[in-house]
Amino acid sequence: MRELPKVELHLHLEGAAPPAFVRGLSKEKHVDISGIFDARGNYRYKDFWDFLKVYEAATSVLQSPEDYRRLTLAVLEETAAHGVVYAETFLSPDFCGGRDLGAWREYLLAIQEASDEAERKMGITLRGIVTCIRHFGPEKARETAICAAETAGDWITGFGIAGDEKAGAPKDFRWAFDCAREAGLRLTAHAGEWAGPEGIRDTLAALAPERLGHGVRAIEDLALVDELAERGIVLEVCPGSNVALGVYKDFRAHPVHELDRRGVKVTISTDDPPFFHTTMTREYEELHRAFDWDEGQFRRIAKVSLEAAFCDTDTKTKIAKLLEA
Ligand code: ADE
Ligand code: ZN
Repeated sequence: MRELPKVELHLHLEGAAPPAFVRGLSKEKHVDISGIFDARGNYRYKDFWDFLKVYEAATSVLQSPEDYRRLTLAVLEETAAHGVVYAETFLSPDFCGGRDLGAWREYLLAIQEASDEAERKMGITLRGIVTCIRHFGPEKARETAICAAETAGDWITGFGIAGDEKAGAPKDFRWAFDCAREAGLRLTAHAGEWAGPEGIRDTLAALAPERLGHGVRAIEDLALVDELAERGIVLEVCPGSNVALGVYKDFRAHPVHELDRRGVKVTISTDDPPFFHTTMTREYEELHRAFDWDEGQFRRIAKVSLEAAFCDTDTKTKIAKLLEA
């Protein structure tokens, strides 16, 4: 499972920060965030909303472009070790320079430097999706979209929205999504993780993304499942995340197999791997155990994922060769 070449489309950069890395930075910077760790040194949280608070506390020690350069290298080393050859990561100007465009450019340069180094040394390719945070509100999302639009190109290829799905309505973020779309960015939106089918319908109507982060609760409305299949909307499914946060009680209760069986394009990712005690290898192993998914199925999913990736066709051609291995 570890060796199979993989494509991961849904990975939050700060959410992938190893706890030891964050603890190390907190000591260097004399910031006391000891309360976010348990006795074994892992992240500790009670539920999704507490997870968001712990996430933001962990992020508070990432204070400079250099910190993000080191973070990106640490994350890519771990990701590549699980056979991922291509990944897309969510990046938020909220955390990288407080949405100031000049500062954002400096953070981005450092992240891209690390991405280039990882590509040379570890053979993993990374692209960025600028992401606004729903519970930070539409005004900040507009500023984030401007940062995204100004840095759109070969490396920043997409725009998205994460955070508390229960905060505000998708239509509040229409301006931000229109701005990103006009800059040529591809679109994805977290929906159908904490809200049900209506949240997905509202998101599709207001923001018109081509991919959904999670989207799994579409299973509660089979007409919506058919619509997703017909329209070719891609789901960035993170089963281990959903189980860890209590959306589903275990892998066997997760709808990913049924969504796939009904013709929806599903892809597999880790979301925030150390928070959920997961890796791409573990996701594959659990899916094999729960649904008997085999090598053929995983190779098919990797191909679907690459087709749904936001990078250019030259990059896709190069990655497609790696998937043949
Ligand atoms: N940010 C990081 N992980 C997230 C998740 N699973 N849902 C929404 N926002 C997030
Ligand atoms: Zn996510």
